[in-house]
Amino acid sequence: MMNIEEKYVVDVLLSEEEIQKRVSEVALQISKDFKDKEVLLVSVLNGSFVFSADLIRKMDMKCKIDFISLSSYLGTHSQGKVKILSEFKEDIIGKDIIIIEDILDTGTTLDFLKREIAFKKPKSITTCVLLDKKCARKTEVDVEYSCFEIGNDFVVGYGIDYNGFFRGLPYIGILKESTQ
Ligand code: IMP
Ligand code: MG
Repeated sequence: MMNIEEKYVVDVLLSEEEIQKRVSEVALQISKDFKDKEVLLVSVLNGSFVFSADLIRKMDMKCKIDFISLSSYLGTHSQGKVKILSEFKEDIIGKDIIIIEDILDTGTTLDFLKREIAFKKPKSITTCVLLDKKCARKTEVDVEYSCFEIGNDFVVGYGIDYNGFFRGLPYIGILKESTQ
């Protein structure tokens, strides 16, 4: 049986080195901006698990992390409807929340999540995204930290998947069907 990862080729868009360098820069900036604050990172599963793990290890500040599971994508197309598949385990009230998201695409997911968190009365809500597909935006969302702006291609790797595959790649690439 053919492995799904063999039916596609992944054209490198952002190398492992480029990603690590930029994630370090953003982690240091966040550490400066949030020094001595009571920060709770909210990592959006599943796509941002690798980004979150790198970011928290490169940060120079005290913080807690919680994970929330959302779903809006099926295959390569957004369904436009967000579902929460898990709940918060840490208290949100009075905390400085930093949402960690893999990709900001149409904006539906982040807009929804920010509203959900706002209901829980945090002190502040800040957003940190790995990739920003600015040209695909349908809902305006403010983003304070963005690592890379990319075009409207479907990408995989560094935690980001296609139907659950390709998450383990250390780089980010554009998914193309193999001609072989
Ligand atoms: P939005 O609600 O349209 O902004 O979609 C954001 C979510 O869709 C991200 O958190 C990703 O999980 C997923 N997504 C968007 N673009 C891609 C992609 O190119 N590859 C894999 N997942 C994607
Ligand atoms: Mg996601």
